[in-house]
Amino acid sequence: MTTVTPTAVIRGIGSCLPPQVLSNEDVKRRGVLDTTDEWIRTRTGIARRRAAEEHTSTGDLAVAAGRAAQESAHARADLLLLATTTPDRRCPATAPEVAYRLGLGAVPAFDLSAVCSGFVYAVTVATALVRTGVCTRPLVIGAETYSRIIDPLDRDTAVIFGDGAGAVLLEAGDRAEPGAIAAVDWGSDGSGSDLIAIAAGGSRRPDTSPRLCREDRYFRMSGRAVYGHAVRRMTDSSLAVLARAGWRPGTVGAFIGHQANKRILDSVADRVGIAPRFRHGNIRDVGNTAAASIPLALADTAARHRVQPGTRTLLTAFGGGLTWGSVALSWPAARPRSSEPEPRDARSTTHPTPEGKAPWNLSTTTS
Ligand code: COA
Repeated sequence: MTTVTPTAVIRGIGSCLPPQVLSNEDVKRRGVLDTTDEWIRTRTGIARRRAAEEHTSTGDLAVAAGRAAQESAHARADLLLLATTTPDRRCPATAPEVAYRLGLGAVPAFDLSAVCSGFVYAVTVATALVRTGVCTRPLVIGAETYSRIIDPLDRDTAVIFGDGAGAVLLEAGDRAEPGAIAAVDWGSDGSGSDLIAIAAGGSRRPDTSPRLCREDRYFRMSGRAVYGHAVRRMTDSSLAVLARAGWRPGTVGAFIGHQANKRILDSVADRVGIAPRFRHGNIRDVGNTAAASIPLALADTAARHRVQPGTRTLLTAFGGGLTWGSVALSWPAARPRSSEPEPRDARSTTHPTPEGKAPWNLSTTTS
Protein backbone atom coordinates (compact mmCIF):
# COMPACT_ATOMS: atom_id res chain seq x y z
CA MET A 1 0.00 0.00 0.00
CA THR A 2 1.40 3.43 -0.90
CA THR A 3 0.87 6.31 1.48
CA VAL A 4 0.28 9.72 -0.03
CA THR A 5 1.93 12.61 1.81
CA PRO A 6 -0.72 15.23 2.52
CA THR A 7 -0.08 18.82 1.63
CA ALA A 8 -1.73 22.10 2.53
CA VAL A 9 -4.66 23.13 0.35
CA ILE A 10 -6.16 26.64 0.20
CA ARG A 11 -9.85 26.27 1.13
CA GLY A 12 -10.76 29.89 1.84
CA ILE A 13 -9.67 33.37 0.73
CA GLY A 14 -10.51 36.61 2.53
CA SER A 15 -9.61 40.28 2.21
CA CYS A 16 -10.14 43.61 3.88
CA LEU A 17 -9.38 47.05 2.51
CA PRO A 18 -9.95 50.17 4.60
CA PRO A 19 -12.53 52.40 2.88
CA GLN A 20 -10.38 55.56 2.59
CA VAL A 21 -8.92 55.88 -0.94
CA LEU A 22 -5.86 58.06 -1.57
CA SER A 23 -5.21 59.07 -5.17
CA ASN A 24 -1.75 59.98 -6.42
CA GLU A 25 -2.80 63.63 -6.27
CA ASP A 26 -3.82 63.17 -2.60
CA VAL A 27 -0.40 61.73 -1.74
CA LYS A 28 1.36 64.51 -3.63
CA ARG A 29 -0.69 67.17 -1.82
CA ARG A 30 -0.23 65.62 1.64
CA GLY A 31 3.56 65.59 1.50
CA VAL A 32 3.94 68.59 -0.85
CA LEU A 33 5.91 66.12 -2.98
CA ASP A 34 7.83 66.92 -6.13
CA THR A 35 6.08 64.24 -8.19
CA THR A 36 3.24 63.79 -10.64
CA ASP A 37 0.37 61.38 -11.11
CA GLU A 38 1.85 60.51 -14.49
CA TRP A 39 5.29 59.68 -13.04
CA ILE A 40 3.77 57.44 -10.36
CA ARG A 41 1.52 55.62 -12.84
CA THR A 42 4.18 55.04 -15.47
CA ARG A 43 7.09 54.21 -13.09
CA THR A 44 5.16 52.05 -10.62
CA GLY A 45 1.75 51.18 -12.11
CA ILE A 46 -0.01 52.65 -9.05
CA ALA A 47 -3.01 55.01 -9.37
CA ARG A 48 -4.41 54.88 -5.84
CA ARG A 49 -4.08 53.07 -2.52
CA ARG A 50 -6.07 52.63 0.69
CA ALA A 51 -5.24 54.25 4.02
CA ALA A 52 -6.52 53.00 7.37
CA GLU A 53 -8.33 55.59 9.45
CA GLU A 54 -6.65 56.70 12.66
CA HIS A 55 -8.64 54.32 14.83
CA THR A 56 -8.03 51.28 12.58
CA SER A 57 -5.04 49.06 13.36
CA THR A 58 -3.32 46.21 11.54
CA GLY A 59 -5.10 43.83 13.93
CA ASP A 60 -8.49 45.28 12.95
CA LEU A 61 -7.76 44.61 9.27
CA ALA A 62 -6.38 41.15 10.10
CA VAL A 63 -9.49 40.15 12.07
CA ALA A 64 -11.73 41.15 9.16
CA ALA A 65 -9.64 39.36 6.51
CA GLY A 66 -9.23 36.28 8.72
CA ARG A 67 -12.94 36.09 9.42
CA ALA A 68 -13.67 36.45 5.69
CA ALA A 69 -11.23 33.61 4.83
CA GLN A 70 -12.88 31.34 7.38
CA GLU A 71 -16.31 32.16 5.99
CA SER A 72 -15.04 31.47 2.50
CA ALA A 73 -13.81 28.04 3.67
CA HIS A 74 -16.80 27.37 5.96
CA ALA A 75 -14.21 26.19 8.45
CA ARG A 76 -12.42 27.28 11.59
CA ALA A 77 -8.65 27.52 12.03
CA ASP A 78 -6.58 25.55 14.54
CA LEU A 79 -3.51 27.82 14.22
CA LEU A 80 -3.06 31.48 13.28
CA LEU A 81 -0.04 32.99 11.61
CA LEU A 82 0.03 36.74 11.02
CA ALA A 83 2.60 38.12 8.58
CA THR A 84 3.18 41.80 9.30
CA THR A 85 5.83 44.49 9.72
CA THR A 86 3.34 46.86 11.28
CA PRO A 87 2.03 45.02 14.37
CA ASP A 88 -0.42 46.78 16.69
CA ARG A 89 2.24 47.02 19.39
CA ARG A 90 5.94 46.19 19.66
CA CYS A 91 5.03 43.71 22.38
CA PRO A 92 3.17 41.37 22.43
CA ALA A 93 2.62 39.86 18.98
CA THR A 94 -0.67 40.86 17.34
CA ALA A 95 -1.69 37.31 16.30
CA PRO A 96 -2.93 36.04 19.69
CA GLU A 97 -5.37 38.94 20.00
CA VAL A 98 -6.53 38.40 16.41
CA ALA A 99 -7.14 34.72 17.24
CA TYR A 100 -9.03 35.74 20.38
CA ARG A 101 -11.19 38.21 18.48
CA LEU A 102 -11.95 35.51 15.93
CA GLY A 103 -13.11 33.26 18.73
CA LEU A 104 -10.57 30.55 17.95
CA GLY A 105 -10.01 29.49 21.53
CA ALA A 106 -6.55 28.50 22.74
CA VAL A 107 -4.95 27.96 19.30
CA PRO A 108 -1.27 28.72 18.77
CA ALA A 109 -0.90 32.19 17.24
CA PHE A 110 2.22 34.12 16.30
CA ASP A 111 3.50 36.96 14.12
CA LEU A 112 5.99 36.46 11.35
CA SER A 113 8.18 39.34 10.18
CA ALA A 114 9.65 39.04 6.69
CA VAL A 115 8.48 42.43 5.37
CA CYS A 116 7.05 42.06 1.85
CA SER A 117 7.92 38.34 1.70
CA GLY A 118 5.90 37.77 4.88
CA PHE A 119 2.89 36.10 3.30
CA VAL A 120 4.93 33.66 1.21
CA TYR A 121 7.10 32.87 4.26
CA ALA A 122 3.97 32.28 6.34
CA VAL A 123 2.41 29.98 3.72
CA THR A 124 5.70 28.06 3.64
CA VAL A 125 5.68 27.63 7.43
CA ALA A 126 1.98 26.70 7.46
CA THR A 127 2.51 24.12 4.71
CA ALA A 128 5.34 22.51 6.67
CA LEU A 129 3.19 22.43 9.83
CA VAL A 130 0.37 20.76 7.92
CA ARG A 131 2.65 18.24 6.22
CA THR A 132 4.15 17.24 9.56
CA GLY A 133 0.78 16.97 11.28
CA VAL A 134 1.41 19.81 13.76
CA CYS A 135 -1.87 21.43 12.75
CA THR A 136 -4.62 20.72 10.24
CA ARG A 137 -6.18 24.09 9.45
CA PRO A 138 -3.81 27.07 9.67
CA LEU A 139 -5.12 30.57 8.99
CA VAL A 140 -2.45 32.68 7.29
CA ILE A 141 -3.05 36.43 7.30
CA GLY A 142 -0.96 39.18 5.73
CA ALA A 143 -1.97 42.56 7.18
CA GLU A 144 -0.32 45.97 7.15
CA THR A 145 -0.81 49.63 7.97
CA TYR A 146 2.24 51.14 6.27
CA SER A 147 0.53 54.53 6.49
CA ARG A 148 1.79 54.52 10.12
CA ILE A 149 5.48 54.04 9.24
CA ILE A 150 5.74 55.92 5.95
CA ASP A 151 7.07 59.48 5.93
CA PRO A 152 4.56 61.51 3.91
CA LEU A 153 7.43 63.81 2.90
CA ASP A 154 9.48 60.97 1.37
CA ARG A 155 8.56 60.60 -2.27
CA ASP A 156 10.52 57.32 -2.63
CA THR A 157 8.05 55.51 -0.36
CA ALA A 158 4.97 57.72 0.12
CA VAL A 159 3.83 57.17 -3.46
CA ILE A 160 4.11 53.39 -3.28
CA PHE A 161 2.71 51.96 -0.06
CA GLY A 162 -0.87 51.35 1.07
CA ASP A 163 -2.83 49.54 3.80
CA GLY A 164 -4.88 46.34 3.70
CA ALA A 165 -5.11 42.68 4.68
CA GLY A 166 -5.58 39.36 2.91
CA ALA A 167 -5.87 35.85 4.29
CA VAL A 168 -6.09 32.21 3.30
CA LEU A 169 -7.35 29.27 5.29
CA LEU A 170 -5.33 26.15 4.52
CA GLU A 171 -6.24 22.59 5.31
CA ALA A 172 -4.53 19.24 5.04
CA GLY A 173 -5.52 17.71 1.72
CA ASP A 174 -4.52 15.90 -1.43
CA ARG A 175 -1.92 17.14 -3.91
CA ALA A 176 -4.36 16.67 -6.80
CA GLU A 177 -6.95 19.09 -5.37
CA PRO A 178 -7.40 22.69 -6.55
CA GLY A 179 -5.55 24.96 -4.14
CA ALA A 180 -2.88 22.37 -3.24
CA ILE A 181 0.60 23.69 -2.46
CA ALA A 182 2.98 21.81 -4.75
CA ALA A 183 6.34 23.31 -3.79
CA VAL A 184 7.94 26.20 -1.90
CA ASP A 185 11.21 28.11 -2.07
CA TRP A 186 12.54 30.76 0.30
CA GLY A 187 15.74 32.55 1.22
CA SER A 188 17.41 35.59 2.73
CA ASP A 189 20.49 37.81 2.43
CA GLY A 190 21.13 39.91 5.53
CA SER A 191 24.01 41.78 3.87
CA GLY A 192 21.28 43.96 2.37
CA SER A 193 19.50 44.62 5.67
CA ASP A 194 20.03 48.40 5.47
CA LEU A 195 18.37 48.74 2.06
CA ILE A 196 14.83 48.53 3.48
CA ALA A 197 14.67 49.56 7.13
CA ILE A 198 13.42 51.67 10.00
CA ALA A 199 16.66 52.78 11.66
CA ALA A 200 15.39 53.38 15.19
CA GLY A 201 12.92 51.71 17.52
CA GLY A 202 14.68 48.40 18.07
CA SER A 203 17.33 47.29 20.57
CA ARG A 204 20.17 48.70 18.47
CA ARG A 205 18.69 52.21 18.63
CA PRO A 206 15.75 52.44 21.01
CA ASP A 207 13.16 55.04 20.08
CA THR A 208 13.73 57.09 23.24
CA SER A 209 15.96 59.90 22.09
CA PRO A 210 14.19 63.23 21.59
CA ARG A 211 16.81 63.94 18.93
CA LEU A 212 15.58 61.25 16.57
CA CYS A 213 15.06 62.75 13.13
CA ARG A 214 12.54 61.72 10.45
CA GLU A 215 15.26 59.71 8.75
CA ASP A 216 15.52 57.45 11.82
CA ARG A 217 11.86 57.16 12.73
CA TYR A 218 10.36 56.28 9.39
CA PHE A 219 10.56 53.39 6.96
CA ARG A 220 13.21 54.01 4.29
CA MET A 221 13.98 52.13 1.09
CA SER A 222 16.91 52.53 -1.32
CA GLY A 223 14.57 52.13 -4.26
CA ARG A 224 17.01 51.85 -7.13
CA ALA A 225 19.30 49.32 -5.36
CA VAL A 226 16.32 47.28 -4.18
CA TYR A 227 14.89 47.19 -7.70
CA GLY A 228 17.78 45.09 -9.04
CA HIS A 229 17.73 42.70 -6.08
CA ALA A 230 13.97 42.29 -6.38
CA VAL A 231 14.08 41.31 -10.06
CA ARG A 232 16.98 38.90 -9.61
CA ARG A 233 15.76 37.20 -6.45
CA MET A 234 12.14 36.77 -7.54
CA THR A 235 13.26 35.41 -10.92
CA ASP A 236 15.69 32.91 -9.39
CA SER A 237 13.24 31.86 -6.69
CA SER A 238 10.42 31.41 -9.24
CA LEU A 239 12.59 29.19 -11.41
CA ALA A 240 13.71 27.21 -8.32
CA VAL A 241 10.16 26.56 -7.12
CA LEU A 242 8.99 25.54 -10.59
CA ALA A 243 11.90 23.10 -10.88
CA ARG A 244 11.01 21.69 -7.46
CA ALA A 245 7.38 21.23 -8.54
CA GLY A 246 8.52 19.67 -11.83
CA TRP A 247 6.62 22.33 -13.84
CA ARG A 248 7.95 23.98 -17.00
CA PRO A 249 7.37 27.78 -16.94
CA GLY A 250 5.27 27.44 -20.09
CA THR A 251 2.72 25.34 -18.18
CA VAL A 252 2.03 28.06 -15.58
CA GLY A 253 -1.38 29.64 -16.19
CA ALA A 254 -1.46 32.19 -13.35
CA PHE A 255 1.27 34.42 -11.95
CA ILE A 256 0.97 36.72 -8.93
CA GLY A 257 4.08 38.54 -7.79
CA HIS A 258 4.56 40.81 -4.80
CA GLN A 259 3.09 44.11 -5.92
CA ALA A 260 6.10 46.34 -5.32
CA ASN A 261 6.17 47.93 -8.72
CA LYS A 262 4.47 46.87 -11.97
CA ARG A 263 7.73 47.23 -13.91
CA ILE A 264 9.49 44.84 -11.51
CA LEU A 265 6.67 42.30 -11.87
CA ASP A 266 6.77 42.47 -15.66
CA SER A 267 10.56 42.04 -15.65
CA VAL A 268 10.30 38.95 -13.45
CA ALA A 269 7.46 37.44 -15.49
CA ASP A 270 9.33 38.13 -18.76
CA ARG A 271 12.47 36.45 -17.44
CA VAL A 272 10.62 33.43 -16.07
CA GLY A 273 8.65 33.13 -19.32
CA ILE A 274 5.08 33.89 -18.19
CA ALA A 275 2.92 35.44 -20.93
CA PRO A 276 1.21 38.80 -20.07
CA ARG A 277 -2.30 37.26 -20.12
CA PHE A 278 -1.37 35.01 -17.19
CA ARG A 279 -0.17 37.89 -14.95
CA HIS A 280 -2.68 39.00 -12.32
CA GLY A 281 -2.82 41.67 -9.66
CA ASN A 282 -4.40 44.91 -8.48
CA ILE A 283 -1.38 47.14 -7.83
CA ARG A 284 -3.11 49.98 -9.72
CA ASP A 285 -5.80 50.17 -7.04
CA VAL A 286 -4.01 49.19 -3.81
CA GLY A 287 -0.29 49.97 -4.32
CA ASN A 288 2.32 48.03 -2.38
CA THR A 289 0.70 46.57 0.74
CA ALA A 290 3.77 44.54 1.79
CA ALA A 291 2.74 41.24 3.45
CA ALA A 292 -0.88 41.81 2.36
CA SER A 293 -0.01 42.26 -1.28
CA ILE A 294 -0.15 38.66 -2.56
CA PRO A 295 -3.32 37.58 -0.71
CA LEU A 296 -5.04 40.81 -1.79
CA ALA A 297 -4.13 40.11 -5.42
CA LEU A 298 -5.23 36.49 -5.00
CA ALA A 299 -8.60 37.60 -3.57
CA ASP A 300 -9.12 40.21 -6.28
CA THR A 301 -8.28 37.79 -9.10
CA ALA A 302 -10.48 35.05 -7.64
CA ALA A 303 -13.39 37.49 -7.18
CA ARG A 304 -13.18 38.33 -10.89
CA HIS A 305 -13.19 34.59 -11.82
CA ARG A 306 -10.12 35.13 -13.92
CA VAL A 307 -8.49 31.73 -13.33
CA GLN A 308 -9.86 28.19 -13.54
CA PRO A 309 -9.50 26.18 -10.33
CA GLY A 310 -6.65 23.71 -10.74
CA THR A 311 -4.58 26.02 -13.00
CA ARG A 312 -0.85 25.86 -12.27
CA THR A 313 -0.07 29.02 -10.30
CA LEU A 314 3.14 30.78 -9.28
CA LEU A 315 3.39 33.23 -6.36
CA THR A 316 6.64 35.08 -5.77
CA ALA A 317 7.73 37.79 -3.35
CA PHE A 318 10.70 39.90 -2.31
CA GLY A 319 11.14 42.18 0.66
CA GLY A 320 13.27 43.73 3.36
CA GLY A 321 15.76 41.60 5.19
CA LEU A 322 16.50 40.96 2.37
CA THR A 323 14.05 38.09 2.01
CA TRP A 324 12.34 36.32 -0.87
CA GLY A 325 10.18 33.30 -1.51
CA SER A 326 7.91 31.55 -4.01
CA VAL A 327 5.04 29.09 -3.90
CA ALA A 328 3.86 26.76 -6.68
CA LEU A 329 0.24 25.75 -6.21
CA SER A 330 -2.87 24.91 -8.17
CA TRP A 331 -5.46 27.70 -8.32
CA PRO A 332 -7.96 27.26 -5.44
CA ALA A 333 -11.65 26.54 -5.89
CA ALA A 334 -12.58 28.86 -2.98
CA ARG A 335 -15.02 31.73 -3.46
CA PRO A 336 -13.34 34.74 -1.85
CA ARG A 337 -15.03 36.98 0.71
CA SER A 338 -14.22 40.56 1.57
CA SER A 339 -14.98 42.45 4.73
CA GLU A 340 -14.91 45.86 6.39
CA PRO A 341 -12.26 46.55 9.09
CA GLU A 342 -13.42 45.37 12.51
CA PRO A 343 -12.70 47.91 15.24
CA ARG A 344 -11.36 46.46 18.48
CA ASP A 345 -14.15 48.04 20.49
CA ALA A 346 -16.63 46.03 18.40
CA ARG A 347 -15.63 43.09 20.58
CA SER A 348 -19.02 43.05 22.20
CA THR A 349 -20.54 42.02 18.87
CA THR A 350 -17.76 39.65 17.83
CA HIS A 351 -16.95 38.25 21.24
CA PRO A 352 -16.22 34.53 21.13
CA THR A 353 -18.72 32.20 22.66
CA PRO A 354 -17.54 30.32 25.76
CA GLU A 355 -17.00 27.24 23.57
CA GLY A 356 -14.71 29.31 21.35
CA LYS A 357 -16.98 29.02 18.29
CA ALA A 358 -16.54 31.81 15.76
CA PRO A 359 -19.64 33.90 15.08
CA TRP A 360 -19.52 33.58 11.28
CA ASN A 361 -22.11 35.92 9.95
CA LEU A 362 -21.16 39.27 11.39
CA SER A 363 -20.35 42.25 9.20
CA THR A 364 -18.98 40.30 6.24
CA THR A 365 -20.11 40.79 2.68
CA THR A 366 -19.48 38.58 -0.32
CA SER A 367 -17.32 40.29 -2.90
N1 COA B 1 8.30 61.29 -8.43
C1 COA B 1 8.93 61.89 -9.44
N2 COA B 1 10.20 61.63 -9.79
C2 COA B 1 10.87 60.71 -9.06
C3 COA B 1 10.27 60.04 -7.96
C4 COA B 1 8.94 60.37 -7.67
N3 COA B 1 8.25 59.78 -6.66
N4 COA B 1 11.17 59.20 -7.44
C5 COA B 1 12.28 59.32 -8.17
N5 COA B 1 12.10 60.24 -9.15
C6 COA B 1 13.03 60.66 -10.19
C7 COA B 1 14.49 60.57 -9.74
O1 COA B 1 14.90 61.76 -9.12
C8 COA B 1 15.19 60.33 -11.04
O2 COA B 1 15.33 61.54 -11.74
P1 COA B 1 16.63 61.83 -12.66
O3 COA B 1 16.56 60.79 -13.76
O4 COA B 1 16.41 63.22 -13.12
O5 COA B 1 17.80 61.63 -11.74
C9 COA B 1 14.20 59.48 -11.83
O6 COA B 1 12.91 59.74 -11.26
C10 COA B 1 14.48 57.99 -11.76
O7 COA B 1 14.80 57.68 -10.39
P2 COA B 1 14.92 56.19 -9.87
O8 COA B 1 15.27 56.20 -8.42
O9 COA B 1 15.82 55.44 -10.82
O10 COA B 1 13.42 55.74 -10.04
P3 COA B 1 12.89 54.30 -10.28
O11 COA B 1 12.40 54.15 -11.65
O12 COA B 1 13.85 53.28 -9.75
O13 COA B 1 11.60 54.29 -9.35
C11 COA B 1 11.01 53.35 -7.23
C12 COA B 1 11.74 54.49 -7.94
C13 COA B 1 11.19 53.52 -5.73
C14 COA B 1 9.55 53.43 -7.62
C15 COA B 1 11.62 52.01 -7.70
O14 COA B 1 13.01 52.06 -7.56
C16 COA B 1 11.13 50.80 -6.98
O15 COA B 1 10.01 50.40 -7.15
N6 COA B 1 12.04 50.13 -6.24
C17 COA B 1 11.87 48.82 -5.68
C18 COA B 1 10.72 48.63 -4.76
C19 COA B 1 10.75 47.22 -4.23
O16 COA B 1 10.94 46.26 -4.94
N7 COA B 1 10.60 47.04 -2.95
C20 COA B 1 10.71 45.71 -2.45
C21 COA B 1 9.97 45.43 -1.28
S1 COA B 1 8.86 46.61 -0.79
